[in-house]
Amino acid sequence: MPRPLRAAIVGLGTAVPEKVLTNADFEKFLDTSDEWITKRTGIRERHIASESQTTGTLGTIAARNALADANITPQDIELIIVATVTPDMIMPSTACCIQETLGATDVPAFDLGAACSGFIYAVSVASKFIETGTYKRVLVIATETLSKFSDYTDRGSCVLFGDGAGAVVLEATEDEDRGVLYSVLHADGNGWDFIHVPAGGSRNPATLETVENRDHFIKMRGRDVYKFAVEKMQWLLGNCMEKCNMTVDDIDMVVPHQVNSRIIASAASKFDFPQDKVFVNIDIYGNTSAASIPLAMQQARDEGRIGPGSTLMLVAFGAGLTWAGAILKL
Ligand code: ACO
Repeated sequence: MPRPLRAAIVGLGTAVPEKVLTNADFEKFLDTSDEWITKRTGIRERHIASESQTTGTLGTIAARNALADANITPQDIELIIVATVTPDMIMPSTACCIQETLGATDVPAFDLGAACSGFIYAVSVASKFIETGTYKRVLVIATETLSKFSDYTDRGSCVLFGDGAGAVVLEATEDEDRGVLYSVLHADGNGWDFIHVPAGGSRNPATLETVENRDHFIKMRGRDVYKFAVEKMQWLLGNCMEKCNMTVDDIDMVVPHQVNSRIIASAASKFDFPQDKVFVNIDIYGNTSAASIPLAMQQARDEGRIGPGSTLMLVAFGAGLTWAGAILKL
């Protein structure tokens, strides 16, 4: 009988725009302060895409870096999944645009919209294709240009968001103690209006009025999202450990969606996770939605805080509302 397959991460890569927007920059055109933003969110600066940089171009760079890290070419990939809520266009999918640039023509490619939970959703979907033996190598790209959908007159939301991309190559392995050991996905559409872009879709197509009303930008009920996020992050941490029969001691690093340092601290404190086991880099990137977890994984690896053999717990929540968690071993 063939041995069961696992999906292991064999390549990781990222891309961030060069331009940096600091809290002090916001003070120049918004009624806000560095002190308010730092204290309430933990964010000090974020990277912002230039006019020519798009979700697709950033995603392509991250993908190329992940492929190089895995020491393979685009032709070795059998499926491309792009997690994003800030696509290049309504259609076609950003996955098809990236596939064309990579030259991985003919392999299936699709976008997955689960907002900030998108990376974990995509890794989970990819792992199922691998575990069932359908594909051997899948490229997952999480890429966002939230700045292009942010209302820079709304101090309650625009200060949170940044741009960036991260990608992983997942490959089939027969090593049962490696790869995605567990994943859990959830959604509750009752909260669809907690974070949404009202116009530009079939419910509210673009008109002069929607543009004048700034309805093509992200609207957010910050305080409601905050409460939901703390509750779900706590639930995810508990669920992942319970289902994998693990304790805090078994986890080398929690890599949470970088949403707000207070939300992360509050969720992690419930299980007494030591600070050095919870990776936080929201101070330099802000909230980059789906891209935030692979951006954090890359930095954690570059700093030598995770590496081969590390057990990671990923947790995220986002618009939808969606929430998702995973345990994986590098
Ligand atoms: N600068 C200064 N003051 C501000 C700012 C700002 N940037 N933003 C809001 N305020 C003011 C408010 O107007 C309010 O003033 P008031 O008391 O006079 O009415 C006061 O600060 C408190 O506002 P709250 O909304 O209660 O502040 P809170 O402590 O909740 O922080 C925040 C707001 C940072 C948005 C927080 O609620 C949060 O992080 N929520 C989660 C949001 C989130 O995670 N969204 C991401 C999902 S994104 C996705 O899925 C793509």
